[in-house]
Amino acid sequence: MKTVVITGSARGLGFEMAKVFKKNNVNVVISDLKEENLKKAKKLLDEIESESKVSYAVCNVTNEEQILDLIAHANKTFGRIDIWINNAGVNQPERAIWELDTKDIDTVLNVDLKGAIIGSKYAMLDMTKNGGGAIYNIEGYGSNDAKMLGLSIYGTSKRAVTYFTEALAKESAERNTGVIVGKLSPGIMITDFITNALGNGEAINLSDKTKKVYNILGDYPDVVAKFLVEGMLKNTKNDAKIEWLTGSKAAWRFMTAGFNKRDFFDQKLLKE
Ligand SMILES: NC(=O)c1ccc[n+]([C@@H]2O[C@H](COP(=O)([O-])OP(=O)(O)OC[C@H]3O[C@@H](n4cnc5c(N)ncnc54)[C@H](O)[C@@H]3O)[C@@H](O)[C@H]2O)c1
Repeated sequence: MKTVVITGSARGLGFEMAKVFKKNNVNVVISDLKEENLKKAKKLLDEIESESKVSYAVCNVTNEEQILDLIAHANKTFGRIDIWINNAGVNQPERAIWELDTKDIDTVLNVDLKGAIIGSKYAMLDMTKNGGGAIYNIEGYGSNDAKMLGLSIYGTSKRAVTYFTEALAKESAERNTGVIVGKLSPGIMITDFITNALGNGEAINLSDKTKKVYNILGDYPDVVAKFLVEGMLKNTKNDAKIEWLTGSKAAWRFMTAGFNKRDFFDQKLLKE
């Protein structure tokens, strides 16, 4: 039976991916900043019928010791790690670069970029010792070089995550590690992430124009998670990109937007 470790998985995409892995009989280690949130998440995951099990460990991805503890916990609980997903992420306050506090710039870069780098480093060391595995990093706004006021530091980190992941895949192949490395591209998801900066509840007030685009291109994270997890379970190639919102899907969404009146921001339609 395989085991997956997902960072930042008490809610949002990470939690939804954990559900799909459990449904597919993969042991799951969820991890996040707060134990109380992990306990609640584990309880919900335990309700899913499956041959596999769920465990959790607190891990702040900006803390190297806690990443090592998470790896040790997963190995002790399930014997080995087959898939490692650097999913933890924070959004930035919706301000121009020079209007941001330096400490907030640090937080975004430390969680979104450095967290993925250090997580990958230790997952790679663990997997090479154990004879292989798969590491995935999450792309986001900016990965494709798009730019927009209010998302530049987040975009800087995600652009770098994309470069880093490709570089890691190349190094892994050149060293014959037996570890495949890939990118997950989730598009736009209706999670706490889009309305909260820095993970601490600083509100992001989306403009009507942004809401309109999210209504056309966005999806709930359970839909995206199913696609991404099924892609990971099938994937055997190094340097893969598992992409939900492809260019053609986005074009189709815009073409059919007139017939598809979705409003994620209407309270009645918000998912619990
Ligand atoms: N929501 C979107 O539209 C969107 C689009 C593209 C990419 N993404 C990416 O998807 C991933 C998941 O985002 P989401 O939408 O589920 O967000 P979310 O805010 O719902 O979940 C993020 C999780 O990460 C955790 N987290 C934050 N800082 C952490 C830290 N230092 N250590 C460990 N955990 C930490 C949070 O507690 C939370 O549980 C992120 O990498 C994000 O950048 C999101």
